Amino acid sequence: MIYDARYAAEYARLYIAPWRRKHERNVRNLRRILGQLAPGVQPPRWLDVACGPAWHFAQFCERITQVGLDASLAQLHSARAANPQASFVCADMARSVLAPACFDLVTHFWAGYCYLDDQARIGKLLENMIAWTRPGGACYLEVLLPGDVAAFNASGYARATGFRVWARTPDFVRWGYLDSGGRHQMMSPPLEFFIAPFQAGFERLEVEHDGAFMVHLIAIGRLG
Ligand SMILES: C[S@@+](CC[C@H](N)C(=O)[O-])C[C@H]1O[C@@H](n2cnc3c(N)ncnc32)[C@H](O)[C@@H]1O
Repeated sequence: MIYDARYAAEYARLYIAPWRRKHERNVRNLRRILGQLAPGVQPPRWLDVACGPAWHFAQFCERITQVGLDASLAQLHSARAANPQASFVCADMARSVLAPACFDLVTHFWAGYCYLDDQARIGKLLENMIAWTRPGGACYLEVLLPGDVAAFNASGYARATGFRVWARTPDFVRWGYLDSGGRHQMMSPPLEFFIAPFQAGFERLEVEHDGAFMVHLIAIGRLG
């Protein structure tokens, strides 16, 4: 398990603090999505899948019921410390561990699906995210494209940290990442793989590349 206590302790320094613009965009989008949920939804129920330390919950802790899911006990330990108002579940995101249609908003940040390293399991996660969203609700997912993975070693962040990616398949759909946690085995299916299920399950889809590493995919109005 890469996300042990030592790595979890340095996670915020490596993957939250240096990425201010991404996180500011997340907060702006979340504020807008939460504001668009049906006025009768009081308080809205928000599930963050592969929540890590649940930085996003800490930005919105009033009048929202928050549930975080992650496979790492060490990450959940940080999440609980930062978010006493929230509840957390330790589970595999590719398994159907929660009841359907329980959440108004389901999120998944920093393309945590890459860790599933298997297209069928990533497909199952997308199915879960959609199934866990109630009719009328929304999903917000950050997608990491193979082309952006391929560009990582030329980035300022890679130069500053010495962290590196390498291709496990020539198209960078399967890739590896070396950082202070060790060697991560990752998979990045193309964008169409993510768009298809959300297009079929929601009234409206927004897809926006942030000019850095993330495509922000926001699906509004889960069809009943
Ligand atoms: C890159 S971190 C993202 C954390 C958080 N979403 C954020 O934006 O800071 C990836 C997270 O995925 C979690 N993870 C990896 N495999 C998982 C699985 N099969 N089920 C649930 N969580 C998993 C890790 O423990 C880690 O916290």
